[in-house]
Amino acid sequence: MKITNICCIGAGYVGGPTMAVIAQKCPHIKVTVVDLNEERIAKWNDKDVNNIPVYEPGLSEVVGEARGRNLFFSTQVDQAIDEAQMIFISVNTPTKMYGLGKGMAADLKYIELCARQIARVSKNDKIVVEKSTLPVRTAEAIKNILDNTGNGVQFQILSNPEFLAEGTAVEDLFMPDRVLIGGDENDQGRKAIQALVDVYSNWVPKERILTTNLWSSELSKLTANAFLAQRVSSINAISELCEKTGANVSEVANAIGTDSRIGNKFLKASVGFGGSCFQKDILNLVYICKSFGLNEVANYWEQVIIMNDHQKRRFSLKIVSSLYNTIADKKITFLGWAFKKDTNDTRESAAIYVADDLINEQANIAVFDPKVDHKQIMSDLNYLETRTSEENEKRVVSFSDPYEACKNSHAIAVLTEWDEFKQYDWQKIYDAMLKPAFVFDGRNILDAHKMREIGFVFQSIGT
Ligand code: NAD
Ligand code: UGA
Repeated sequence: MKITNICCIGAGYVGGPTMAVIAQKCPHIKVTVVDLNEERIAKWNDKDVNNIPVYEPGLSEVVGEARGRNLFFSTQVDQAIDEAQMIFISVNTPTKMYGLGKGMAADLKYIELCARQIARVSKNDKIVVEKSTLPVRTAEAIKNILDNTGNGVQFQILSNPEFLAEGTAVEDLFMPDRVLIGGDENDQGRKAIQALVDVYSNWVPKERILTTNLWSSELSKLTANAFLAQRVSSINAISELCEKTGANVSEVANAIGTDSRIGNKFLKASVGFGGSCFQKDILNLVYICKSFGLNEVANYWEQVIIMNDHQKRRFSLKIVSSLYNTIADKKITFLGWAFKKDTNDTRESAAIYVADDLINEQANIAVFDPKVDHKQIMSDLNYLETRTSEENEKRVVSFSDPYEACKNSHAIAVLTEWDEFKQYDWQKIYDAMLKPAFVFDGRNILDAHKMREIGFVFQSIGT
C-alpha cells in the first residue's frame, strides 16, 4: 500500500515535531495532526510560526515550510481518522495516579480512547501505528478493541517508538540513529511494515530502518530509556564518591568514556535527570517485571530512580548546609527551570524538586529561565501539592532578566545547562550579590577556577 494520507492523534512534543518532519520530507503525503486540546492546536496554527507550542531549535522553519501545503493541525479528530490510511497514536501515557499500579504503571486510558475512536470511525482498512511509549504487549489490547468493531474493517498494528530527545528533536528526526518498526510476522503484517518503511525511506537510509516483531519493538523503547537513565544515575552515583575522595567526576567520565566499549556520551553528572519519560518509563518497566514476578529485575531498575531522587535531594541539602543550615527568607536564585537546555518543557525537571525542598526551608526562590514563564513554574510547584498555591506564590518570583534575578541573592543554583549562562558577566553578578556569594552549579557548566577567582564560594557536582 502506498501511503498518501496520514493522521496523527496527539499534537504534543512527539506528535508535532515527528509529523512536521514527515510532512516536510514527504510532500506527496497529506499529514493531519489532531488533538482534543483546542488551545494547543490554535498555537500550532498561529500565523506567526514562532508561536508554535513546542520550542525546538529548527522546528518553526520545518513547520513554516510544510504547514498549509501538506501539514495540517486540527481538532476534527473523526474526520482525520476517516480520511487516513495510516494513523499514528502519539498521545500521552503518564504514570497512573490511581487504582491498580498507582505510581508505577502506565496510564493507558488515552490510548484506549484513541483505539475506540478509531474503531468507531473507520470505514476502510487502516494501519494503526503506536508512536507513544507503551508497555510491552499493548498492541494486543489495541488489536482486541479494533478487531471487535463488527464492521469488517481490517486493522494492522505497528509499533514505531520514537527515540528523539527534546532540544535536538529536529536533528534527531532528520538523522535518526535508527527507526524501529515492529509488526505482525505474517503477510499482512509484513505489508504494513513495508508501507511504513517506505514512508521513512524518503529520507532515512535503509540500513537504519530496523524491523522486528511487535513485542521486541515495544520493549526496546522502554529498555533504551532505562539504559540511558541508568548511565546518568551511574555517573551521578560516582559523583558523590568523587566529592568525598578528591576525584573529579568530569575527569573520571572522560577517562572511562574513551573506552570505546563504554563510549563518551550521556556521562554528564548533574543535579539529576528530569523529563517526562525516563522516570515514567522505568517505573513502567519495574511494574511490568513485578507483574511477572521478576522481583530482582524490578529492584535492579528501580535503583536508577532511587539514585536519581537521592541526587536531587543531595543538591538541596548541600545548599542548606553550605548556607549555615538556615535559608529561611534568604533569596536563592535559580538559573534554569527546564529539564534540559533548548526546550521549554519542564516536566519532572530537577528544578521543581529542589525548589520544593528549599521552600520547605522557607527560602525565597527567584527564577530565570530563557524559555519558561512564571505560570508554568507555579503550575509545576502546585502540582506537587506540598502546600497551597498561595504559599507557593509568596515564595517564588520569576524574572525576565537574569541579572535582576541574581541581584541581592544569597546564592545562585544552576539547574539547567543553557549555553547563555556561561556567557554572563559573572563579575557583575558577584558585585550585586550578598556576601559570601554562593554558586551551586548543578550542571557543571561554569569554570570553577574563574568563579573562585571572582570571589564566589563555588560548588559543582562531583568535585
Ligand atoms: P504530550 O502530553 O506533549 O502530548 C500528548 C497530546 O495528546 C496532548 O496534547 C493531548 O491533548 C493529546 N491527547 C490525549 N488524548 C487524546 C485523544 N484521545 N485524542 C486526541 N488527542 C489526545 O506528550 P508527548 O511528550 O508528545 O508524549 C507522547 C508519547 O510519546 C508518550 O507516550 C511519551 O512517552 C512518548 N515519547 C515522548 C518523547 C518526548 O521527548 N516527549 C520522546 C519519545 C517518546
Ligand atoms: C530521552 C531519550 O534521550 C530519548 O531517546 C527518548 O526518546 C526520550 O527520552 C523519551 O522517550 O521521551 P529527553 O528526556 O528528551 O530524551 O532528553 P535527554 O537528553 O535524554 O535528557 C534527559 C535528562 O537526563 C535531562 O534532564 C538531562 O539533563 C539529563 N542528562 C542527560 C544528564 O543529567 N546527564 C547526561 O549525561 C545526559
